[in-house]
Amino acid sequence: MIENTFTLINNRTGKQYKYNILNATKGPDVVDMRKFFQDTGLFSYDPAYTSTASCTSDITFIDGKKGELTYRGIAIEELASNHTYLESCFLLLNGNIPSSEELIEFDLEIRHRAFLHEGLRNIFNAFPDNAHPMATLSAGVTALSTFYNDHLEIDDEQEYQEMARRIIAKIPTIVAFAYRHSIGIPFIQPNIDLGFTENFLTMMRAYPGGKMHRRADGYDSLKEIEIRALDTIFTLHADHEQNASTTVVRGVASTGAHPYVAISSGISALWGRAHGGANESVIAQLEMIGSVDRVEEFIAKAKDPEDSFRLMGFGHRVYKNFDPRAKVLKGLQDKLKEELTLDSELMAIASKIEEIALNDEYFISRNLYPNIDFYSGVILTALQIPKSMFTPIFVIGRTVGWITQWIEFKKDKTSKIARPRQLYIGE
Ligand code: CMC
Repeated sequence: MIENTFTLINNRTGKQYKYNILNATKGPDVVDMRKFFQDTGLFSYDPAYTSTASCTSDITFIDGKKGELTYRGIAIEELASNHTYLESCFLLLNGNIPSSEELIEFDLEIRHRAFLHEGLRNIFNAFPDNAHPMATLSAGVTALSTFYNDHLEIDDEQEYQEMARRIIAKIPTIVAFAYRHSIGIPFIQPNIDLGFTENFLTMMRAYPGGKMHRRADGYDSLKEIEIRALDTIFTLHADHEQNASTTVVRGVASTGAHPYVAISSGISALWGRAHGGANESVIAQLEMIGSVDRVEEFIAKAKDPEDSFRLMGFGHRVYKNFDPRAKVLKGLQDKLKEELTLDSELMAIASKIEEIALNDEYFISRNLYPNIDFYSGVILTALQIPKSMFTPIFVIGRTVGWITQWIEFKKDKTSKIARPRQLYIGE
């Protein structure tokens, strides 16, 4: 029989140490190193956690080599094609696709909870008009906690679910208000008659009063395909196991701080260009490149080891194959081409980059494939969403993932404060 252990030898002392191997249901098994320091007096060194499992989880699974992603065991392609974002939210939170009764109840509750306290509305006025919506959003979510002062210490299932529904419902409203504040136009209140994604698009794009553009023959309305496209984008972003911002959310949870600041910290971590901020950077980079003729020049810069320039929307820590979310979006982009006006110059530059990079030795040997952010920007631009709003849109989708992971952390009786050690090299 094969022993389920791992032996390490310290060649300085000749001592041997045995560690149990914990079995994963999918993906690599894990060597249980919790007693390593106690046994050996040494730390392990893994600064960006490239080889470290920081928790156990049964929420989301990624097979980076195969390019697979599942939420609670269900493939992302199936969820994106046959289910709505709210169904995926319910699935992540509860472990099953909702029945029609469960969905009606969940959807109605999210609609009712979308409104913001009038006091919170005034907070937006304190920020300068040109504030980046990510800054306003992160501050808005922290500020939300001040209106729920008596509900910060939560520790039972009902309170967790209530908290999750509240934050999933209110973040789109905060995002829309942050955007309208940033361009100096009056806020549009949520409309209880509209579904999650249509409501958000209306709060973003409508004129005061809730109507869309007026034309000679009447008013524009949101197209079904626009609502469906954004809903799919939310679904694709809903969770992504232990990524940087989720690790931050769990880290804040580990100190015992309440969920609003944990989510707000996740938002701040997501803003960075190497993470969620990449979607805004992709379009900014395509605009900077400006024409198909200049693509080769920028590919050469990306390959130059002396140049810090990177192709935004390429590469991923976990995916060493096509990001499955990117595949779904590529298909969606092709569908939208037939029905909406996609920026043809930006698309042509993006297609050229994709074509060159997918056939170039530098990118092939490093497994650098287009990721979700490479495609989402072009689609969001077609939905008339300005690029400063791309990362806030990512936040709307990811909120359910953060709160589900926060709840999992809270329920894990073995969880402790996150406290890594260091290799001291100073005086
Ligand atoms: N353009 C050019 N070279 C790259 C790129 C890129 N986008 N990404 C990685 N490389 C090179 C890097 O220079 C290194 O080369 P070498 O081995 O010669 O030093 C090699 O590939 C490995 O890179 P790494 O930085 O060690 O890889 P990582 O796993 O630490 O970083 C990443 C992953 C996503 C931060 C990185 O690929 C990157 O900066 N990509 C651009 C930003 C981006 O699109 N981010 C969105 C990620 S998807 C959304 C999300 O999940 O948040």
